[in-house]
Amino acid sequence: MKPVSNVTVLQQLGWRYATKKFDPTHKIASEDWKTLEQALLLTPSSYGLQPWKFIIITDPAKRAELRPFTWNQPQVTDCSHFIVFTIRKNIDPGHVQRLIDRTSEVRQVPATSIEPYKQMMLSDVVHGPRSLHANEWAARQVYIALGNFMTCAAMLGVDTCPIEGFEPPRYDQVLGLAHKGLAAVVCCAAGYRADDDKYAPMSKVRFKAEDVVERI
Ligand SMILES: Cc1cc2nc3c(=O)[nH]c(=O)nc-3n(C[C@H](O)[C@H](O)[C@H](O)COP(=O)(O)O)c2cc1C
Repeated sequence: MKPVSNVTVLQQLGWRYATKKFDPTHKIASEDWKTLEQALLLTPSSYGLQPWKFIIITDPAKRAELRPFTWNQPQVTDCSHFIVFTIRKNIDPGHVQRLIDRTSEVRQVPATSIEPYKQMMLSDVVHGPRSLHANEWAARQVYIALGNFMTCAAMLGVDTCPIEGFEPPRYDQVLGLAHKGLAAVVCCAAGYRADDDKYAPMSKVRFKAEDVVERI
């Protein structure tokens, strides 16, 4: 038997929408949040390098501080959990080594046995062609985490709103990201829709399959 039915997948993807009005009184239960946090951690990335940090903000004061730098969008203050997806800027040999050490620990293999893999990453992302646009590359990875998060949230009946309508440099300032080598890329509000969010019943606008899918 399939773990999730075709009907359920499409039903939940049709159910989700970019929530404009959250119910501020409805918080995500800790059991569901733990699962969503695991979903973030389980996001795949190129080479498995995970060039990110997810900043989860529940502190109302901090969220109020961020709202003016988020085009004043109410989702920031009204949702249950607000996530800022940040990249680790300019991936360096230290980060690659941390992945090697972690791999060695988790898989119980000597680090020397994965030395060729380490050299491959260094010669591409750190010193090679990809290093020229390492932050752009990292941003692409972090968007995979955003998509993964929103899909998993929908499967659990949790609403989300992805947010690019914000000022990344201001976020970097307010959250003190620069000195940690991080930079804000995109955000996501998560929680539960307000009963009167007028966007909830609107039909989805998507191009027809023949316009966006090519079969060869
Ligand atoms: C990366 C990204 C950034 C977005 N930024 C915002 C935003 O700042 N505010 C907002 O209300 N919606 C935002 N949206 C929502 C989109 O407008 C919405 O996903 C799109 O119109 C499709 O509608 P649906 O998500 O309701 O199906 C964003 C969506 C994505 C994927």
